[in-house]
Amino acid sequence: MSPKNPVSLKSPKTLSAAEVAAVRAAHLMPLPGPMFAKPIQIVEGNMQFLFDENGKEYLDGFAGVATVSIGHSHPHFVAKLKAQIDKLQHEPPLYLHPAVGAFAKRLADKAKTVNPDMEVCFFTNSGSEANEMAAFVAKTYTGRHDFIAVQRSYHGRTLLTTALTGQHNWRNQQPYPVGVSFTPTDYAYRFAGTPEQSTAAALHGLEQTLKTATQGKIAAFYGETIMGVGGLITPGRSYFSGAVELVHRHGGLFICDEVQAGVGRTGEHYFGIQHWGAKPDIIVMAKGLGNGYPIGAIITTRAIADSMKGLLHYNTFGGGPMAIAAADAVMDVVEKDDLAGNSKKVGDRLIGGLKKLQLKEERVGDVRGMGLMIGVELVKDRKSKEFAPELTVRVVESMKDQGVLIGKGGLEGNTLRIQPPLCWTVQDADRTVAALEQALKDA
Ligand SMILES: Cc1ncc(COP(=O)(O)O)c(C=O)c1O
Repeated sequence: MSPKNPVSLKSPKTLSAAEVAAVRAAHLMPLPGPMFAKPIQIVEGNMQFLFDENGKEYLDGFAGVATVSIGHSHPHFVAKLKAQIDKLQHEPPLYLHPAVGAFAKRLADKAKTVNPDMEVCFFTNSGSEANEMAAFVAKTYTGRHDFIAVQRSYHGRTLLTTALTGQHNWRNQQPYPVGVSFTPTDYAYRFAGTPEQSTAAALHGLEQTLKTATQGKIAAFYGETIMGVGGLITPGRSYFSGAVELVHRHGGLFICDEVQAGVGRTGEHYFGIQHWGAKPDIIVMAKGLGNGYPIGAIITTRAIADSMKGLLHYNTFGGGPMAIAAADAVMDVVEKDDLAGNSKKVGDRLIGGLKKLQLKEERVGDVRGMGLMIGVELVKDRKSKEFAPELTVRVVESMKDQGVLIGKGGLEGNTLRIQPPLCWTVQDADRTVAALEQALKDA
């Protein structure tokens, strides 16, 4: 789809970026906000394009942090939400509404591809909240409260999900609840050995963690199929089957955090975990599920869900008619336009282009990921593999100046994150590789 530059058509004149930044600084909590040395102001979006207050177009390669799945203001999404707000805007779970149960069935049916027993959903407003709910269910089902998470993971910003996050810079809410232990990451690029040896070492680490840091039986193991915030670290193909076998042997559930990887982002499949062939007990979703409308979900089996029978629990907004209309519209488009197939096609093109660039450019240390969930780890040189966070900042800035927005992440801040809306085209992929090549030259 070509950009229509709708700003001049629709937007009233807004304040300048500098004026907006000043108001924010005066009235919002002094926590990291806008990225870029000179922040940009985005006032409109149209599919994979964003526009600032002056009508400058940007190709969106970060999708509101891997959240806008089908595209900004996608016409089907807009129409479905407008129709819903005209009819009914909020309803608590105290009354029946036809959409929520029907959508729960639709989502659980999708999850049957990874676990045929998946049947039951619970809806929340965010990924953090959905991960909290998954922990609550796992504790209730198993009667235990030991959790294992992976080093470099990110699971959210509530107290428990921050405790489950394995990155020191995000662990800023001490003291934490007890019962979370960390296991090594299958991080092949940084492992002194083959990728297969990296996976074997990570699984050995998990076994040791189970034996030494827990009572031998756990409530659950949390795994992201591809680590988003942690820098797009992508475990080897045998990692999750090995991990799940160990976790089940120790009485735990596998909570598969698909907050970033779900909804077709990793290409070919709706869920990232389908690439690994491992069977989750609980799947956690958010972000792309609502294309930016707040919704999170867990999906689980009847047996696990039934352990919650009789407990008092409530969520004011979760599964409300607007959120469900949003998620339903997203699923319509993901299916009709085969966005998982498109992610694979465009992602392969992007990875191919990035790997070619890597041959010419020794600061491109690693290119990894799947579909439209791609990371490029920048290093000072290929031999030392020294982390290059300052270079990463300069590259992201230069790409922004060229009209391509991407993200950055990883514990050391040296991984470029390319996680665009799933409606990207191969031309968008080529444009991004060219912009990156130029950015590396400029930097
Ligand atoms: C893998 C993963 N899980 C959970 C979360 C938390 O989601 P939210 O920000 O919606 O609370 C995130 C957010 O980035 C995430 O990447």
